[in-house]
Amino acid sequence: MIKEDFAFSYEVYDSIEELTAEDASLLSEARKVTKNAYAPYSHFRVGVTALLENGEIVKGTNQENASFPIGLCAERVMLAAAASMFPDVPIKTIAISYDNENGESTHPISPCGICRQSLLEYETKLKHPIRIILGGLQGKVYIIERAGMLLPLSFTANELNT
Ligand code: THU
Repeated sequence: MIKEDFAFSYEVYDSIEELTAEDASLLSEARKVTKNAYAPYSHFRVGVTALLENGEIVKGTNQENASFPIGLCAERVMLAAAASMFPDVPIKTIAISYDNENGESTHPISPCGICRQSLLEYETKLKHPIRIILGGLQGKVYIIERAGMLLPLSFTANELNT
């Protein structure tokens, strides 16, 4: 038996003030777009902005439903919009923020498992890493080099071709 390790590192910033102008603007827009979430059940509003390689910005927010399981996360709403509007343009960086009506928004949240899988598929499809900026309405900001790092030992299309 041997043991394998998976190393994961990410950048931690004290606040949005420490980011580059481009990253700060993307996170600021993600914070603002949380207002467009439809979250009458969880009261947890998530906003995502994506900066594409052609300079376009695409946004997404979570969209819930009275039939709870069919609600959509903000990340996948954004990916569907990007794929529909600019199918061949890679995503350079995304920013994810949230507004929690039942609590604070003072620390970063990271994408759920389904969204991690979807982000990885998008990276693979367009052969381009997606940088991720995570931050609440206030507080520390994390930056992750590429979405695939959030999903070690992932299931990919490679398995289907064997
Ligand atoms: N949600 C997202 O939109 N993205 C995430 O990364 C985590 C969770 C949404 C789903 C649901 O509408 C609400 O947040 C509470 O789980």
